Amino acid sequence: SILVPFVQVLANEPLTKVPDRYVLPAQEIAVLSNNTSLPQVPVIDLAKLLSQDLNLKGHELEKLHCAGKEWGFFQVINHGVSTTLIESMKRSSKSLFELSMEEKKKLWQIEGDMEGFGQAFIFSEEQKLEWGDAFFLNTLPPHTRKPHIYDHMPQTFRENLEIYCAELEKLANKIIELMTNALAINPKEITDLFNIGTQNVRVNYYPPCPQPEKVIGIKSHSDVGGLTILLEINDMEGLQIRKDGQWISVPPLPNAFIMNVGDTFEIVTNGIYQSIEHRVVVNSNKERISLATFYGPNMQATLAPAPSLVNIEKAAQFRRIRAEDHNNGYFLRELRGKAYLDEMK
Ligand code: SIN
Ligand code: FE2
Repeated sequence: SILVPFVQVLANEPLTKVPDRYVLPAQEIAVLSNNTSLPQVPVIDLAKLLSQDLNLKGHELEKLHCAGKEWGFFQVINHGVSTTLIESMKRSSKSLFELSMEEKKKLWQIEGDMEGFGQAFIFSEEQKLEWGDAFFLNTLPPHTRKPHIYDHMPQTFRENLEIYCAELEKLANKIIELMTNALAINPKEITDLFNIGTQNVRVNYYPPCPQPEKVIGIKSHSDVGGLTILLEINDMEGLQIRKDGQWISVPPLPNAFIMNVGDTFEIVTNGIYQSIEHRVVVNSNKERISLATFYGPNMQATLAPAPSLVNIEKAAQFRRIRAEDHNNGYFLRELRGKAYLDEMK
């Protein structure tokens, strides 16, 4: 990855036009359909999934199964993570982007590494850039935490992050286990892959843009890992997913997490659950801030379709690959829809 300017700084200048390096070819920003009758991503109630009432539970599990199969994206309500913790995490994530330039520089990416402030997936000076800054960080397993980043993070961010990430690890494991129930397979076929799993976080900051229709906040991509849990920090719309050839907006529900299945999960479910392309569009009025937590497999594990999901009717759709090789390959390319997952077939 090569180093690029801070979009937040650029957006503070009195700009009427965005620099060329951010202007995407029109066909890459095909607009959101105006069709108001578009379906909305499913809403899953975790309290129902954990209920003692077997009818209620069974019905919600079926909803989760459909969400995994047909959407790859869903919002989760009654997720059990405390509102107080979420509010603190939101405040401290926001405060990262309020640090002075001097403080930010201490947390700036080192060339060749993605952690800290900066953009990922940039390999040439000609490549178009995204209208957004990110702060990227490994959280699990603990030995992947980089002291040069952790030592310079604001204390409250670090403290909140510690608790938040532990809660989200539990939540991710719970959802993954429920998905194995919905798939009616032995949970171990999938949960073993996440034994000593990886977790990273990405705080995204998309400043307002004078020409929002010419740029993109995050290019279309699918996520590489198992399960992504997204927290929209200031409730701004902008996330869009591609379903049946149309871009559908995902307006965040209050007190919900937006979750999506990543490429790893599509591989291990032999394509039954889909890792869906998504992107972020920006606007001219207000910044947008989000916090994505990615939960992925143990890097030493081998990824392959779960044995009980391979049968005479459905042969293995993906080849075997070591999780670490799969992960490294993802970060060595530009983001481009589901192109990388297609290479795994
Ligand atoms: C993403 O991480 O792909 C989207 C994050 C966002 O909603 O800003
Ligand atoms: Fe993503």
